Amino acid sequence: MCGIVGYIGNQNALPILLKGLEHLEYRGYDSAGVACLNHQKDSLFVIKEKGKLSALKEQLKGIHLLSNAGIGHTRWATHGEPSRANAHPHTDPHNRIALIHNGIIENYSSLKSDLRRKGVRFRSETDTEVAVHMIASFYKKGNLTEAFRKAVEKLHGFFAFVVLSKDEPGQLLAFKRSNPLAIGLGDGENFIASDVTAFLPYTNRVLYLEDDEFAVVTREKVTITSLKTGKVVNRKPSTIRWSISQAQKGGYPHFMLKEIFEQPRVLEETISKRLRKGENIFFDTLSKKIDRKFKKIQKIYLVSCGTAYHAGLVGNYMLGKYVRIPVEATVSSEFRYEDPVIGSKDLVILITQSGETADTLAALRLAKEKKALTLAIVNVVGSTIARDADAMIYTQAGPEIGVASTKAYTAQLETLLLFTLYLARLRKTINADDFSKLLREFKKIPGYAAAVLKQAKAIETCARKHYHRRNFLYLGRGYNFPTALEGALKLKEISYAHAHGYAAGEMKHGPIALIDHEQPVICIAPESKTYDKMISNIEEIRAREGIVIAIGTEKDKNLMSLADDFFSIPKTHEVFSSILTVLVLQLFAYKVAVLNGRDVDQPRNLAKSVTVE
Ligand code: M6R
Repeated sequence: MCGIVGYIGNQNALPILLKGLEHLEYRGYDSAGVACLNHQKDSLFVIKEKGKLSALKEQLKGIHLLSNAGIGHTRWATHGEPSRANAHPHTDPHNRIALIHNGIIENYSSLKSDLRRKGVRFRSETDTEVAVHMIASFYKKGNLTEAFRKAVEKLHGFFAFVVLSKDEPGQLLAFKRSNPLAIGLGDGENFIASDVTAFLPYTNRVLYLEDDEFAVVTREKVTITSLKTGKVVNRKPSTIRWSISQAQKGGYPHFMLKEIFEQPRVLEETISKRLRKGENIFFDTLSKKIDRKFKKIQKIYLVSCGTAYHAGLVGNYMLGKYVRIPVEATVSSEFRYEDPVIGSKDLVILITQSGETADTLAALRLAKEKKALTLAIVNVVGSTIARDADAMIYTQAGPEIGVASTKAYTAQLETLLLFTLYLARLRKTINADDFSKLLREFKKIPGYAAAVLKQAKAIETCARKHYHRRNFLYLGRGYNFPTALEGALKLKEISYAHAHGYAAGEMKHGPIALIDHEQPVICIAPESKTYDKMISNIEEIRAREGIVIAIGTEKDKNLMSLADDFFSIPKTHEVFSSILTVLVLQLFAYKVAVLNGRDVDQPRNLAKSVTVE
């Protein structure tokens, strides 16, 4: 977590850093701070504040600083509470060197004790402060790069750093291990950031730092050196194709709402890009060699976190049904520590919006170590997981800013389904007729999604009836059991109400005890092979006076008669249903959160990209 940004060039750095931090605030918003070179006073100007970036901006009102180099940070607290003292940048005692950090220094405690013994006084509770004191302890005028390298060599953990010094004002120094850092290449100016959105208004030419690489960034030049070999690395810049306007709100009150309503378009684009002559599925990033390997695999693992894990669970049903191969969906934080029995005959699919989630990245590294074939299903172009996996498919959802994942989730479901059908054709586990029928139906899904979203007003009315409640139960079966989990996750993360997702068949094994006239139960019951079982569950809820909010197939009179509120999806094959039912739940969560006055795009304690364990 944490967002970091750096600028050096011929423009005024401060506004550029603040703009950059606005785009990075999704990575954490416990505090914010900047450090800029103050050329007139030959010093560093450092200012930080607890809370969101707006609090820092408030502090900066009336300050007119002209500076052409600086660094900025927005924090998601790991070591030390959110406070001004713990905010970054951190500086050495003489205020010569300022440093920002994203990640965790695992051996900070022993290093801190050593430094204390040498007389260093700490001003924060962070692990980060150790790094700046380490640099200072090696520093002699003119050797900042060397001192930085020596300090980094002593640190364990995963981190991205940017360093600015008043003694060597013509450069910014950066280092990356595990956590992302991108360098934006401008004309007479250069940028560094955790994510390209921070500098996309200025340039779309990007160099991604790899693990254990240093960069010396001046206004004219970027020099990358490997920590391991000590050699200069020559890397070609990539070009970012999406524009900053895609990452802005476009008239909606929140990014989350904008992203919910973008889904029909995202679904349409995802399908059309993957269909050749409308009849065959192709992935431009998969080679013939990878296809040959796909033919031989004997088991598939789907590994991911949070919402992406729910996509993995849906993928589990899809791949099992159409590829007829053992499949296991698991959360990355379990997979990486459970000593999984995997080897060269297994395919490990990592699903991730950000492509930077620490546990998913560790799972990828473990799978590679064990020689499994790895495939990343990723949204953020050029992210670490996208680059490190053996094969990769982009989900094409475009930038997702709201912390609660919406369009990235449905794009993951769609991509998993396309991949399932692709693999089924490759391995000949689906016949041409069934394949074509499914593809024909698939093409209708974006239109169906638009139809589902037309119920927004009715969903709001339902949310008004229930937004004051503190407990919600979500039930589903088969493809819609993960939808129940996802609906519950959406509600709790943005409204802070307690919500629990369950496989409906499990209700009688415990959760039924919760049901009374005050318990809303969201029942996801579109046409499917377990429809009748869902209806029996709903009857059981009604018999105990529970409040039934149902999502079913249009014109389902039976379900309508059992429900207090009913929302519909168009009639479709059950394999597609979870892409549509979840839209109702996203809107419901959004409306409940807004009615409760929550900060929808930046819910408390969360960050968009979870780059710590
Ligand atoms: O970037 P990733 O898809 O790897 O992120 C995984 C989770 O952190 C993420 O889905 C999280 O659960 C979202 N806040 C859910 O809305």
